Amino acid sequence: MRQGIIPTIDYRKGRVLIIDQTLLPGEEKILELVSPVAVAEAIRSLRVRGAPAIGIAAAYGVLIAIEEHLTRVSAGTAGYRFDREEGLVGGEIVGVDPGPLAEVVDESIRMMSETRPTAANLFWALDRMREAAVGSDAAELCRNAAGAAFRIHDDELRLEREIGEHGAPLVEEGCRILTHCNAGGLATAGYGTALAILYTAHREGRRFRVFADETRPLLQGSRLTAWELSRRGIDVTVLCDSAAASLISSERIDMVLVGADRIAANGDVANKIGTLPLAVLCEKFAVPFYVAAPWSTFDTSLQSGAMIPIEERPADEVTRFAGVRTAHEGIGAYNPAFDRTPAGLITAIITEFGVIERPDGGKIACLSDRARR
Ligand code: MRU
Repeated sequence: MRQGIIPTIDYRKGRVLIIDQTLLPGEEKILELVSPVAVAEAIRSLRVRGAPAIGIAAAYGVLIAIEEHLTRVSAGTAGYRFDREEGLVGGEIVGVDPGPLAEVVDESIRMMSETRPTAANLFWALDRMREAAVGSDAAELCRNAAGAAFRIHDDELRLEREIGEHGAPLVEEGCRILTHCNAGGLATAGYGTALAILYTAHREGRRFRVFADETRPLLQGSRLTAWELSRRGIDVTVLCDSAAASLISSERIDMVLVGADRIAANGDVANKIGTLPLAVLCEKFAVPFYVAAPWSTFDTSLQSGAMIPIEERPADEVTRFAGVRTAHEGIGAYNPAFDRTPAGLITAIITEFGVIERPDGGKIACLSDRARR
């Protein structure tokens, strides 16, 4: 694992290594996923979660499907393994028919794309893998696919640091920041989006206080955000989601800072359920509302947030708590995982390109031109 970042995800010779986020903060367990089915399950069950981390995991899911196929068709040998440092381990890929291999790539992309519908980064990463996994023979296809997966991961980490640099000046000495869900190292390549801004400001020597919404029903705020902020020595206090209005309305918050799962062409943002009420509160009580996200979270094929698909999660995430029933047998639950915040409520979106104040269609179109260059 690389220095100074959380070991959210990595790939080592046919194994996707993730920290099992469903067990945090009680247990820090690294899981070894050795098949595309296991990777898809880990994404679906939120063992690995957060839009950028899901994208990286899915790219590695495709890579592991390729390895699984190579091992199957090269029965009797130790099989082939990809490794970030060592490249291809297990000899040259010879005598492998590229046709069935391409079908394996397509099938694994389909499997990964059906895990979670809202995070744009998932589909962005799978598009990169689809474009890359081609070649005049099986060996070239494999090399290209492995290169693309490692690049998706490495580029993401670099962009997170850039987001941190651009956003850090917003965090002044003594600032009180409210955040929701987890947009930190655990949700990304290891540094974060919203929390990267806080990590950079902290490294620059400023001291501030963070309030982390617990984030019902799966508690990403209290279980994950509080865990990673406190590990870095940042002052963090957890609150029930319903207590945010009391804090914001009594002038005890200087800014709200969150991540995003998908951003439409007009700047509307889908993020964890409970984000929209924070933006409405900020508007009402004149508190800046910031969103941090890399370009891979933008989906300019969708004109507005209304078109962003919102994942519905199982009812028992709401009707049970820590395995205990909290609603009477047979009671249903409304459990959308995300909500949509209109661009008009957003003070600025912080990306790797800089701070986009009062985002709108025109500014995002300019960003899109920059991203294409
Ligand atoms: O359901 P989750 O835990 O995957 O939801 C994650 C979020 O809503 C994050 O805020 C978002 O992905 C930003 S991650 C940098």
